[in-house]
This record gives sequence, C-alpha cells and structure tokens, in this order.
Amino acid sequence: MNADSADLLVVGAAAVATGRGSEALRGTDLDRIDEAPAAVAIRGDRILAVGDEAELRAASPGAACLDARGGLVVPGFVDAHTHPVFAGTREDEFELRTRGATYVEIAAAGGGILSSVRGVRAASEEQLLALLLVRLDRFLEQGTTTVEAKTGYGLTLKDELKCLRVIASANASHPVDLVPTFLGAHDVPPEFRDTPARYVDLLIEELIPAVAASGLAEYFDIFTEEHVFGLADSRRILLAAREAGLRLRLHVDQLTPLGGAELAAELGARSADHLEFVSRAGIEALAAADVVPVLCPLVPLYLRVAREVPAREMIAAGLAPALATDFNPGSCYTQSMPEVLTWAALRLRFTHAEALNAATLNAAASLDRAADRGTLEPGKRADLAVLDVPNAKFLCYEMGRNPVRAVVKDGRVVLER
Ligand code: NIG
Ligand code: FE
Repeated sequence: MNADSADLLVVGAAAVATGRGSEALRGTDLDRIDEAPAAVAIRGDRILAVGDEAELRAASPGAACLDARGGLVVPGFVDAHTHPVFAGTREDEFELRTRGATYVEIAAAGGGILSSVRGVRAASEEQLLALLLVRLDRFLEQGTTTVEAKTGYGLTLKDELKCLRVIASANASHPVDLVPTFLGAHDVPPEFRDTPARYVDLLIEELIPAVAASGLAEYFDIFTEEHVFGLADSRRILLAAREAGLRLRLHVDQLTPLGGAELAAELGARSADHLEFVSRAGIEALAAADVVPVLCPLVPLYLRVAREVPAREMIAAGLAPALATDFNPGSCYTQSMPEVLTWAALRLRFTHAEALNAATLNAAASLDRAADRGTLEPGKRADLAVLDVPNAKFLCYEMGRNPVRAVVKDGRVVLER
C-alpha cells in the first residue's frame, strides 16, 4: 500500500453533502453546502480525498469498501448541547405538562432538575456509566459522532466528579467523542434551598477550583434564569470559572428575557444556548463578541412554550448558529439530530443547507473542534454518516424515520444497518 492509498472507500453514494472549512459559517455562507456524486477515501482516522469514485478506486485497489447504496453521505452530526448523565426518567412530568403544568411549576414542586439530582446521587459510577454507554449507542444510531456532555445532576463536588469520570470513561471506551462540560450551576441543590447564596459561594470557593484542577472538564455551564441563578450571581460564578481556566457555555434567555445573552457576550463565552427570549440588543452583543448561539428547537415543543428563538433575525445579524438536541430527561427526551434538522426547518425556517452546517461545522466550532471535524474534507477526521435518503433536502423533509444506514467514526465502520 503506498502512502496515498486509502484503506477504506465509501462508494455508491447518490451524493456527498458537506459544508467547507474549519470556521463557523454565517450569512450566505451558512446556506452553502457542496452536494455532488462522490466517493470518500479514508486512511487511518482521516479523510484522504473526496472525489470521483473510479479514480479513487483505481488509486486504492486494496481498500475495503462501504457501499452507500445510493444514499447520502454527510459529516457525522455534532450535538453541541446534551445532558446525558442521568439515572431515571421523567415521563410523569411530560404528562403533567400535557395536562397544563409548566416547567417552572414542576420544578417549584420539587420535580424537574432536582428529581434527576436525586437519581444521580443515588446511582453508582458503574450504573451511570452503563446507562451512558447505552445512550451513546443511540447517538451513533442517529448519525451523531461527537457529543457535548454536561454534568449538572450531582451538584456536590463528589457527585459532579463522579459524573465527569463517567463521561471520561465512556469517552475512552466508546466510538462517540464526548466533550465534557461541568454544569455545576444547573440549579440550587435541595440542601441549599433556604440559603442559595451559600451554594453560590461553594461553587466559587470549592467546586469550580476542584473541578478545574481535576482536568475532567473543558467547559463550565450555568442555567441563568431568575428562578435559578440571576444575572449578578451568574456573573460572579462565571468569572470564577473563567479564572480557573474553564471556557464558558450558558443556558440563557430560555424562559424569560433576562439579558443572559448580553452576559454571555460580556464574558466572551464560547456559546449561548436556547435564547428563545433574546432581545435585539442581546443578538447584537452576541454578534459583536462572536458567541455561537446553540439553538435547541425541540425544547419549546417539549415544554409546550409557544415562543420560538428568532433564528432568522440572528442569521441576518451575522451570527453563526449551531443546532443541538438538548437531550435530557426533562425538557427534551430525544437524541435525534435528524429530528432537530426537520424542526429547525419547520419552526426556525432554516434551509436544509443551513441546518446541515449548523448541525456539523458550526456545532464543532462551538466546541473548538472545527479544525478536525464538521466537514468532509481531506485531513479532517473520517466521521461520517450514510443516510438512506436521495438528496440533502431530505435531511429536513422527512420526519419520523431514522435515515441512518451506516456510521464511520475515526475511519472505522462502527454501525451498519
Ligand atoms: O437545557 N434549562 C436547563 N436545563 C435543561 C433542562 C434540564 C432538566 O430539566 O433536567 C435544559 O432545558
Ligand atoms: Fe440544557
């Protein structure tokens, strides 16, 4: 085998559809993908070439072939916002909402995040790992190859470190890549309900320094919302996290127009997530500070909130949005990026090209990983999904069927159906 020959060829595709480059796309570039008949040549864990099938076959006669059987080849999806470490589900709350209860009412009655906190504290590291590994299989089945993974259901140093170790173990043993985020400020834990200021101090003085020192988290996240952490507390906590060397992601302006987007911009956060209630000033601040808005279009649906994030206004303002599931047991129980793409089109008025770029390259950029993934180009990681659809418009057009036929992660065929 010569130095330029591939060891795996993805052949027989109707088309390869991908964005271009290693930076988040915005404006008219966001709406641009290449979609053309092609094969993908892979060597080791990297893409060698994307091009004419006959030529690539001739250059690598000894390569194994994955037959796309007339399907569409896309970059593996990058899910930029998930809460996958939990034990116990919350289908009762889902039904309470169908009966008219709101997310905040359920939380105030001791359900919501706190019910998952009880589950995680009671679970062993081994139990949480087993649960997470099953969920990673499901991500892969939906074509997702990189997942941002938040903690946030432990809320003690011991339980948050337990969850971060679970993420590290799963990352080491499963093909899906996990990007760990310490969500220590997800909620005020039950033992501090009467003295929330003491939990803020504990985060700043103990949890953040210890987690940063552990090296187990890349990002710090917070739920900035009046009923959880208000703006002043959020700023103090986030400054401490940034000082400790953690990069910032924020849940902001999800349920009320608090001005969290402006805070994310002020602090140079990597991402500002949700944003259903963002203001015009918030959008402009995010654009000026180059913060990636991570949009989760399934969440308002799950919470039965009519309000949608002003995505078109954001795109017009020059923002480079990413898409995510927000997979978690409360406000969004799905791991399907194909479902997210459809809803991004139907509710947020994304084109199919915008949705694909937001779910791959822009999501990777929000995780500081656009240099090696998010598009199908030579030199990038060979992370791709083969979909049983004839063209890229089907990414949004078809709903309710898993289109994934095969997944390649780091150059290995890790799923075939
Ligand atoms: O992103 N907003 C806060 N956190 C999650 C919900 C987590 C939960 O309800 O368990 C979210 O929607
Ligand atoms: Fe979330």
